[in-house]
Amino acid sequence: MSFVRELVCSRCGRSYLPTERPVLCASRDLGRLDVVYDYEELKEFLTREAVSRRPWAGGVWRYWELLPAAMEFGAPFDEGLTPLFCARRLNDHLGLRRMRLKDETRNPTSSFKDRAMAVGAAKAAEWGAETVVTASSGNAASALAAYAASLGLKCVAFVPENVSLGKAAQLISYGARLFRVKSVEEGRDPTVQAMLRAVEEFGWYPCPSFGPFNPYQVEGPKTIVYEVAEQLGWRFPDAFIVPTGSGCLLAGIWKGVRDLVELGLVEGEMPRLIAVQPEGNQPLVRAVRKGLSFSDVVPERSPKSIASGLLDPYPWDGDAAMEGIRRTGGTGVAVTDEEILEAVKLLASKAGVFAEPSGAVGVAAAVRLQDEGHLDGSDEVVVLVTGSGLKEVEKLVPTVGEIPLITPDVEQLRRYLGT
Ligand SMILES: Cc1ncc(COP(=O)(O)O)c(C=O)c1O
Ligand SMILES: [Zn+2]
Repeated sequence: MSFVRELVCSRCGRSYLPTERPVLCASRDLGRLDVVYDYEELKEFLTREAVSRRPWAGGVWRYWELLPAAMEFGAPFDEGLTPLFCARRLNDHLGLRRMRLKDETRNPTSSFKDRAMAVGAAKAAEWGAETVVTASSGNAASALAAYAASLGLKCVAFVPENVSLGKAAQLISYGARLFRVKSVEEGRDPTVQAMLRAVEEFGWYPCPSFGPFNPYQVEGPKTIVYEVAEQLGWRFPDAFIVPTGSGCLLAGIWKGVRDLVELGLVEGEMPRLIAVQPEGNQPLVRAVRKGLSFSDVVPERSPKSIASGLLDPYPWDGDAAMEGIRRTGGTGVAVTDEEILEAVKLLASKAGVFAEPSGAVGVAAAVRLQDEGHLDGSDEVVVLVTGSGLKEVEKLVPTVGEIPLITPDVEQLRRYLGT
């Protein structure tokens, strides 16, 4: 049973029936096929009470009526359903007493991308695809590879030349065919180019976490908003701070907000959506700050940052992301690598959450936003912590300094402790 009514191209408005099995817009215009549900029918039974009665289980499928793939083709991973909590020591340190962390490092492959790939891979299985292919800095690919392994699909992943070791190890262990792709042209993502050529040549099912190349997976991350609303007792926080690369996550958050409003499940003001990018790759944030429209976004020529998951030179889903920011009175903020590393340290040492640099940028942004007057101590802000530090230990080990080597001897210990 499905409540999907149609899919509508975000660029040309062309409409598709779900039975046509659309993935890319036939106009080849890089539009995303936005999934439209039968909200009138859903309103009849999808009430707060009906959802709250369900056990807190089943992963993203807890909200199956609002997903565009059949639950029976999903993997039994129980992704999502992540904790939302106030880290008191961190909040005291930052002076943001109502800040909450949504800890997405707890997902099955340790990043929020599991939510996307749960849906994208289920759709591939539903359609009987044999091989799924992706372009990714590593997290989305690892997630897809894990779901493919569980569902018995072959997985091919194109990743950047300097992919993180943790992500590569995960991918290979899950059985993906992994290819590192050299950059040949500034401002273009070589992994996306490789994926598109492979799709054309071999007819594989494309499943990157970019809306224009797979509209189904976009719907997975919106479950973050459903969960947060439920965890807060069916209300929105004041703001969401969202680590942003391609803008797909932010587009999903915006869709989640609209779904809840459309269905009357949450009332009141919409949360401000705030995009965070690293200073060395901020095409979307720059456009937001300059008040430009999406068509004026200029790809970053040579992205550079320690936040390897946020290096997409072009925000494929920037249209929806920018609409969400504008319609909610949100903003965009860029943070330096130094601020990001400090955020990693703060999250670990004051909240007990070990995040990779890309996953920690939200905390760096919270500090900046406070300085800039966009946030104040009374704001209830939800910071998405999107990926685990275990993915990129090679980036973090150099920051801890030398680790003392001792014999089991108290005197040596004293010397190091300085007591
Ligand atoms: C840990 C982490 N956070 C955030 C993002 C950004 O997501 P998006 O590309 O959907 O904007 C990524 C993307 O790879 C990621 O790996
Ligand atoms: Zn189109």
